[in-house]
Amino acid sequence: MSSTTTARAAFDALIAERGLAFGGDYNPEQWPRETWREDVRLMREAGVNFVTVGVFSWATIEPRPGAREWDWLDEILALLHENGIAVDLATPVASPPPWLGIQHPDVLPVDRDGVRLIAGSRNQFSPASRTYREHALAITRDIAARYAEHPAVRMWHVGNEYGQIDHGDEAAREFRIWLERRYGGIDALNAAWNTAFWSQRYDSFDEILPPRRMPYLVNPAQSLDFRRHSSDQLLACYTELRDAIRASGAPQPITTNFMGFFAHADYHSWAAEADVVSDDQYPDPANPDAASEIALVQDLMRSLGRGRSWMLMEQSISAVSWREHNLPKSPLRARRDSLQAVARGADAICFFQWRQARSGAERFHSSMLPHAGADSDVFRGACRQGADLQKLAAVAGTEIATDVALLFDWSAWWAGEEPARPTERLSTMEQVNRWYRSLWRRGIPVDVRHPDAELDDYRVILVPHAYILSDAAAQALAGAAARGAQVVIGPFSGVADENAGILQGRSPVQLRELIGASGEEWSGMLPGALQLADGFSADDDAPRASILAERLRAEGGEVLAAHADGDLAGIPAVIRNDNAWYLGAVVSDGVLDAVLARALAAASVTGPIDGLDTLPDGLEAVRRGDVLFLLNHTQHPIDVPVTAGLVDLLTGEETGDIVGIAPGDVRALSERQHR
Ligand code: GAL
Repeated sequence: MSSTTTARAAFDALIAERGLAFGGDYNPEQWPRETWREDVRLMREAGVNFVTVGVFSWATIEPRPGAREWDWLDEILALLHENGIAVDLATPVASPPPWLGIQHPDVLPVDRDGVRLIAGSRNQFSPASRTYREHALAITRDIAARYAEHPAVRMWHVGNEYGQIDHGDEAAREFRIWLERRYGGIDALNAAWNTAFWSQRYDSFDEILPPRRMPYLVNPAQSLDFRRHSSDQLLACYTELRDAIRASGAPQPITTNFMGFFAHADYHSWAAEADVVSDDQYPDPANPDAASEIALVQDLMRSLGRGRSWMLMEQSISAVSWREHNLPKSPLRARRDSLQAVARGADAICFFQWRQARSGAERFHSSMLPHAGADSDVFRGACRQGADLQKLAAVAGTEIATDVALLFDWSAWWAGEEPARPTERLSTMEQVNRWYRSLWRRGIPVDVRHPDAELDDYRVILVPHAYILSDAAAQALAGAAARGAQVVIGPFSGVADENAGILQGRSPVQLRELIGASGEEWSGMLPGALQLADGFSADDDAPRASILAERLRAEGGEVLAAHADGDLAGIPAVIRNDNAWYLGAVVSDGVLDAVLARALAAASVTGPIDGLDTLPDGLEAVRRGDVLFLLNHTQHPIDVPVTAGLVDLLTGEETGDIVGIAPGDVRALSERQHR
C-alpha cells in the first residue's frame, strides 16, 4: 500500500472510531494557561472531538533563531489527549516570526508594483525564497520528529490556505527555471508566447520577468504561465513539508486547507497530493445564492478527493470580520451550513475558530466560544451542532453518486479572464454558478472534472465556459456524444490553445462538427431579445441574450433560439445537434434552464425525489449513501413528498408520505432504517 492509501485509511479509521469530526482551529498559545482547562471542559460539553493546533505558532515555538519552545505544546497536546480530543497538528509556516524577515529580507514577498511586504500581519513569505523554505523545513522537521508518535496527533495540517504570490527576484529565478522546463529552449517560448507581437522577443530565459507593473497590457501567455508557475510553486512548498513529515515516520494523514474555487491554486493538480481533501468555506449570509454556490464548492471538494469524503476545515459560526459589512449567522443558519457540508460529503465539520480572539486583527470574527462566553446562543448553537453530528455518525464515509460532470479548468479560467477580450463582463465563476444553480434546483449533484479527465461514466457533460480546451478533450466530448451522453457547451468555449493562442478557423474550431454550427467574431452585446423555435419553450417572460455573442451559422444543427434584434437578428444563439447543445451567447436564466432541462431529460437524469423535477424554491435535496438530506434554505415551511417509513436521523421520527421541513431546518432521512 502506498503511504497515501495508508494515510487515507488512518483518516477513515479516525472517523470510524469517533464519528464525524467536530471542532476547529485552536490557538492556545494566544491565551494564558488558566483558560486551557476551561477550553477543554467546554469542548467536551460541545462534543468537540478534533482541533487544529498551532497554525500561527511559529514565533511562539521559535521566538529567536534556532530556539525551540515545546513546553506549551507538550502540555496542551497531553491535555487534549487526556480529554479524548484528536489533534490536527499544524506546521506553523504561514506566518514566520518578525526576526526572519529582518535578518533575511529575501524571505519577504514582493508585490506586482515592486513593494516588499513586511511582518506585522501574516503570510509575509515568498514561496520562492530559499531562505524561507529552509527555515520552514527546519521547524517542520523538528515538529514532526517530536510529535510523529504522539497519541494525540491524528492528522497534519501543512501551512494555511497557500495563496501567496511573489513577483520579486527569487520568483523571477524560479519562473525562468519553470519556463525552461516547460519549453526546453527560448525559441519554443517565443513561439508559444508569440513574442513577435509588440517586440517582446527574448534572447535568453535570463531576460524574462514575472508580470510586474508595466506600461500597458501584459502578454496573456506570459500571464497564464506565471499563474501556472505560481500555483506549482505553492504546491512545491506544501509537498516539501509533507514529505518531511512523512520522512519522520509520521503515519497520520496530511492535508492543507483549500479555498474552494481559489484563483491562485489549480486544485486539480494539488488534490492528489493531499491524503484527505480539506477546505475552508465562508458563504456570505448576505448572498441570496450562497446555498447553491457553496454546494458547488462542496461538489468540487468531493470530486477533488475522487468521490471520497472531505473535511470542512474552516467556516464561521456567525459573522466573519473581513467583509465590508459582516452579517451574522443565526445558530439555525450555522447548523444548516454545517449539515449542508455533511450532506454533500464532508466527514469533518470545523470552524475558525474555537475561542474568539481577545484582540488582534480578528477580534470581531465569530468563534464557537464567543467573547460573551458559554452563556450565549452561539455556544449553545455549537453544542447543538455537536449533538446533531453524533446522530449522523452512520453517514460518515458514505459517498454521493452522480451521472453529471461539470468541466472546469483553472488554466481556462485564468486565460479566459485576461484583460482585452470581447467583454470584461463575462465571468467564468458567474457562468459556472448559473449553470450549477439549475441542477441544484433539481437536486442533481455534479462531479467537477478537468476537461482532460476520463468522462466515460457520465450521461451528461456540462461545459459552461472552457476558454481553453485541448484537442484531446474536444475529441472526448465528441466521443461522449457519440456514445449517447448529452454534451452541453457554453459560449466562448474552445477559443484558445494551451498557450492562450486563438485557434484559427471558424469557431469553435475543435467543436464545429460536434455542434453542427460554426461562427466568426465574438463580441460584447447589449441585452437583446431571443426568438425561440417552435417546440422549444422556456419559463422566461422575455427570453434574452446578453454579455457576449458569437456570429454563428447553423451547419446541420437545429436552431432552438436566434437573436431577434438589431445586427444580430436571425443569428442562431442556441443550437442542438443530436446529443450536443451549444450556446453562442450568454442566455437568460429561463433559456439556460430550458436547455439544461432538455439535456437532462434526454439522458434520463433525475433528482432524488420521485415526481419532483424541480424542487420547491429554496429546498436543497441530496442523497448521500442511503440518507436523503433535505435542507430548507427559506424562512417558510416546505412540504416534500417522500417514501413513507424513512427515519429522520436527527429527530428519530418516522416519515409519512409528506415530510414538513420547518424554516431553516434540515432532515436526514435514512433508508437503511426504513421500517
Ligand atoms: C481563513 C484563515 C483563518 C482565519 C479565517 C477568518 O482564511 O485560514 O486563519 O483568518 O480565514 O475567516
